[in-house]
Amino acid sequence: MILTMQPSVLVTRRIYPEAIEYLKQHAEVDYNPTDDILSPADLLARAKGKQAIVSQLVDKFTPGVIAQLGVRIIANVAVGFDNIDIPAATERGILVTNTPDVLTDTTADFAFALLMAAARRIVEAHEFVHAGKWERWTIDMLVGQDVHHRTLGIFGMGRIGQAMARRGKGFDMRVIYHDAQPANFDAEFASKEKVLRESDFISLHVPLTPETRHYIGEPELRMMKPTAILINTARGPVVDEAALARALKEGWIGGAGIDVFEREPAIDPDLLKCRTATLAPHIGSASVETRRGMSMIAVENAVAALEGRRPKTLLNPLAWEKVYARKEA
Ligand code: GLV
Repeated sequence: MILTMQPSVLVTRRIYPEAIEYLKQHAEVDYNPTDDILSPADLLARAKGKQAIVSQLVDKFTPGVIAQLGVRIIANVAVGFDNIDIPAATERGILVTNTPDVLTDTTADFAFALLMAAARRIVEAHEFVHAGKWERWTIDMLVGQDVHHRTLGIFGMGRIGQAMARRGKGFDMRVIYHDAQPANFDAEFASKEKVLRESDFISLHVPLTPETRHYIGEPELRMMKPTAILINTARGPVVDEAALARALKEGWIGGAGIDVFEREPAIDPDLLKCRTATLAPHIGSASVETRRGMSMIAVENAVAALEGRRPKTLLNPLAWEKVYARKEA
């Protein structure tokens, strides 16, 4: 009898159980079933001899880490992939995948929920009622801003940006946007400055890259309307958090709905003090269906790579061409 060795996969942190079950049908699984983050040394030690890693956005794959990996694939359970140095992975012939599409509407729902919450002061209202402070109805108790018929500005008109724009249109908003290129979407493409100056609400949907780090800083915040509300469900470092705290404290803008931070889970102490900031702990894609779906897509990508198939949501086709196309030839 010939014994064939099963491929082996490292899952760096807890994911949905059905994803682990699926993986176990195809591979040996080294599972860290906790929410603890593996140190780079532990990550490398446990990745040794494995063919795939199922990772999360808190796992950092720097060029130094990647240089020591022998895996075929890093399957990230996230749409964002700024935690992985893609050129270094491609150079080493390591496939990298993310989990797009499944979370598009879920994340846009949450961005719009933050927009509504900040505009209509829902969190303040909730705290007010729970604190037993509601004694009588008054004409201007907890008055906020209208959302309908106002201007929604979007930076980054990709999948999630467009889903946000559709929600805005559903609320009869005027939608304007800025991106590197105009998108195939029925909304006004405008300069960055025009979006900053004319929007009542600005929602960020750009990936984190060297170009988008601090894309919104003091100059941009100062260009916004004093009533404008900034929504960030993209990545924390896209916004200069200290400048945002000052902008809210000094009234350069009217409010913010922020789900992502520069040094998660730490938050700028001045931002934490701002009552006009509605804050959430990076839960944009956090619905049961979507988080389960993200877990499944990642493990399906891992298994595809183990079986020599092209993963569905491959980020670096060059790595595929380099390693697999050569083998097929
Ligand atoms: C979450 O932030 C993701 O990138 O999926």
